[in-house]
Amino acid sequence: MTEKTILTGQVLSFDGCPFDGEATAAAQLDEAICIQNGHIVAVGTAERLKADAPGVRVVDHGARVIMAGFVDAHVHYPQTAIIASWGKRLIDWLNTYTFPEEMRFGDADYASEIANRYLDLTVAHGVTTMCSYCTIHPASVEAFFGAAQARGQRVVAGKICMDRNAPEGLRDDVQSAYDDSKALIARWHGVDRLGYAITPRFAPTSSPAQLSALGALWREHPDCLMQTHLSEQVDEIAWVRELYPDARDYLDIYETHGLLGARAVYGHSIHLEPRERDRLAETGAALAHCPTSNSFIGSGLFDMTGLIAQGQRIGLASDTGGGSSFSMLRTMAAAYEVAQLRGHALHPAQLLWLATVGSARALHLDHLIGNAVVGNEADLVVLDLASTPAIAQRANRAGDIWEAVFATIMMGDDRAIADVWIGGKQRALIRA
Ligand code: GUN
Ligand code: ZN
Repeated sequence: MTEKTILTGQVLSFDGCPFDGEATAAAQLDEAICIQNGHIVAVGTAERLKADAPGVRVVDHGARVIMAGFVDAHVHYPQTAIIASWGKRLIDWLNTYTFPEEMRFGDADYASEIANRYLDLTVAHGVTTMCSYCTIHPASVEAFFGAAQARGQRVVAGKICMDRNAPEGLRDDVQSAYDDSKALIARWHGVDRLGYAITPRFAPTSSPAQLSALGALWREHPDCLMQTHLSEQVDEIAWVRELYPDARDYLDIYETHGLLGARAVYGHSIHLEPRERDRLAETGAALAHCPTSNSFIGSGLFDMTGLIAQGQRIGLASDTGGGSSFSMLRTMAAAYEVAQLRGHALHPAQLLWLATVGSARALHLDHLIGNAVVGNEADLVVLDLASTPAIAQRANRAGDIWEAVFATIMMGDDRAIADVWIGGKQRALIRA
């Protein structure tokens, strides 16, 4: 039994989905949250929580917002050092910047350095869980899980598999992709707070035989997630059609190789055919919306409103380093802007839900994380709604918490992240 701690402020949680009916009706505001043994044990008035636990440590956050830590549903931690690389679209961007950098992750020391750098950067941005691609090297997975385990952090990750259309030194083969992934599942899946995602990079970089082998592996380990990329760029889709001429569409390739199911997470999913949308909805697979990446690499405008209306499972994601930011605030702002370009205004409650509950649902972790409710793990972020003069002067004019928090969503960065707790422990926020 560890000591209880109470945090006071404006505790934001969700008791419904803000895409169903009135957005704000799904949100709940309380004064205090009590944590113990890495879990949330009470949420309520400050008076009641303090009376129930006399003498415990109280961290007073005043008017700040206390909520579940952000969950990033799709990232590539090995791309940390090449974030914001100029001037290319997807396939050229992969060949010019990404593949040379990923080549370095056979070196366990380098992989560990970047894994720790990435986790330092993301905690400073209030991200407490992410689902990451690693590289083809098992060492890159060892480094990431090892770093997350040492921090007591809940993460999902997997070894990228690719056996074609990638440079020498960055290809595995059918058997080694299967064997290495299987060994990594045995070593890490379900250990502490770690989970494994079987990870074919995308259809162009896997032979049909490799996709089938990974489909078979997923059938043997159905509690693992499966993550890959789907319909990100128009040129990519044309290439996929050439490589898989018999497929009905992009999603059909994954389905015919055993790589479609409720525990699948498809990054981007922008240019979907009606049949693909129906199949995704039927199977309950998840889509990871990566709005900064989709603008940065010039991929297109994700149809958030239409896909939500179809009942799709959608998470929000940075897609570091195709995405141009580690910040889920910036990612929410980009999601807002993309929706505006499609004629819809996402409510701040919807944006915050997507970055927490939505992403946790996409990763099938919503019974554990993503919401500041009793029983969940104590992964929390505290938002300062007046973190810069520009934001403070706007927040001063705000009529309610949603107007105030929207200024932080649109203009905030890591300075808005006042405090982060992971597994019930307060974390150092490295600013420089
Ligand atoms: N498609 C295949 N690999 C990648 C990647 O690393 N980043 C993005 N944005 N798209 C991809
Ligand atoms: Zn990606």
